[in-house]
Amino acid sequence: MGEKPSELGTIICEGQTPNHLAFSFQVAKDVEVKVGEYVEVPLGLSVLVGRVYSIHTYNEYFSSPEFLQFHIEEGIPVQARFPTRMGRWRVARVRVVGVLRQGRLLPPEVPPEPGDAVYRAKPELLDAFMKFRSDGVFLGVMRGNSGVKVLLNPELLLPYHVAVLGATGSGKSYVVGVIVEELLEKGVPVVAVDPHGEYRFFSQGNDKPDEVEKARSLGLTPSGFPTTVYSLGEDGDRSLSISVEDLNPYALVEVCDLSDAQSDLLHLAFRRLGGGRYGLDDLVGAVKEAAREWGFQRNTLAATLRKVQALSELVFLGESVNVRDLVKPGHLSVLDLSGSVDEEVRRTVVGVVLEKIFNARRRGEIPPLVVVVEESHRFAPQGVRSYCGSVLRRIAREGRKFGVTLCLTSQRVVGLDKDVLTQCGTKIILRIEGAYDIEYLKPILDYASADEAERIPLLPTGTAMVTGMATRTPILVDVRPRKTRHGGGHQAFWKQNAES
Ligand SMILES: Nc1ncnc2c1ncn2[C@@H]1O[C@H](COP(=O)(O)OP(=O)(O)O)[C@@H](O)[C@H]1O
Ligand SMILES: [Mg+2]
Repeated sequence: MGEKPSELGTIICEGQTPNHLAFSFQVAKDVEVKVGEYVEVPLGLSVLVGRVYSIHTYNEYFSSPEFLQFHIEEGIPVQARFPTRMGRWRVARVRVVGVLRQGRLLPPEVPPEPGDAVYRAKPELLDAFMKFRSDGVFLGVMRGNSGVKVLLNPELLLPYHVAVLGATGSGKSYVVGVIVEELLEKGVPVVAVDPHGEYRFFSQGNDKPDEVEKARSLGLTPSGFPTTVYSLGEDGDRSLSISVEDLNPYALVEVCDLSDAQSDLLHLAFRRLGGGRYGLDDLVGAVKEAAREWGFQRNTLAATLRKVQALSELVFLGESVNVRDLVKPGHLSVLDLSGSVDEEVRRTVVGVVLEKIFNARRRGEIPPLVVVVEESHRFAPQGVRSYCGSVLRRIAREGRKFGVTLCLTSQRVVGLDKDVLTQCGTKIILRIEGAYDIEYLKPILDYASADEAERIPLLPTGTAMVTGMATRTPILVDVRPRKTRHGGGHQAFWKQNAES
């Protein structure tokens, strides 16, 4: 079955001798091996699967400083006098990630022997080991083993939430776009919270020639997907609006920026409303009655009324957005928040819409769905109490029971609510430069990522480390080109100016 595996080298007992968890092999001449690559060692009926974590080069002709100094002083290149190529050898260090026996995973129990041959892991072996599935979410190809397509099993991906973390410009939105394409193709409804207005181009096919060519080589055809843009301003397909009734007291306190006393008054007013239908006028009436009944000071009443009545001027107040329209199989609904509104307002609208979605899903009124939240640290900031944050925390905790999956992005790992982050079963990590962010992430990465973490600051744009429920061990993925037009990234203002 499959092609003949290529031999990479021979296990040796240099430094630490082979054991059940790690070994080294001498790399054969003219063979290319890279850090991160997966290798296999047949052990009878089992196959040991390992991952190269470092490669060392040696050359005996360059090991003595006196010898080299002499040649430098004499002006004679060492290469001219000695067969330096013959003195060269390479050793790859490998960490064992598992043992497969007839498709079953066994714990590492026995060491390989010095002298055993090491092969490049066959794609079929890696598919089985990584739990990839032919109908999986096609994220890209494995870096190091580029013949292997990363096809994440949706049953391992979707029940748990996904966090996509990385610096600005590292490729977060791009990879989320890839995931969204895959989900839409499988008929999953997607709602995207989009603070920068990047997702509106999802209805259009990718038109970047280099990306299109690469996509075709992977068997992909550029195309757009059914997309509806709900916008706070005028430039969407539909306006994103909520009604006064959608605002519970917590959301109102936040969006109206009420003080403690004003907030007490508002809660009492809500009690009077008793849960029936109401509009802004009813709310204003209830505030007045509650103030009279409980003897609130005149200025507290006046300030509360002023702030509540100011709601009528907010752009988003109108007819409540219909969740059944928003959540449709194979359809992307973009909540475009790029208009110029206050951050509290933006957050409140998102909180309201997500809570409505969650409740509708609990009642079984809409199909299971995925909710993308870009810049999630703005909607669920760590250490800040907010209505939207509490909605996101609730979905993070309970979404699994009801078929609501979060796919969050953030460039501020430390700034994202820790409870929300730890509920994400899969983490997709792109380049992160901040040492503090990386330290913070280490405990929530899989154990095998400890030495991987060292490479996180050096990842090129579009290369992601996937770790968590959806893969058996952390893998590096070169993210595939998009089928749709990517709306993110930065404008080439400076480049244009430099050229003009
Ligand atoms: N996998 C990829 N393939 C090709 N180009 C990519 C890839 N990932 C990112 N890019 C490029 O990098 C730019 C920044 O990526 P983006 O996802 O918008 O960054 P982020 O959301 O992390 O700020 C994009 O405009 C795109 O041109
Ligand atoms: Mg982005």
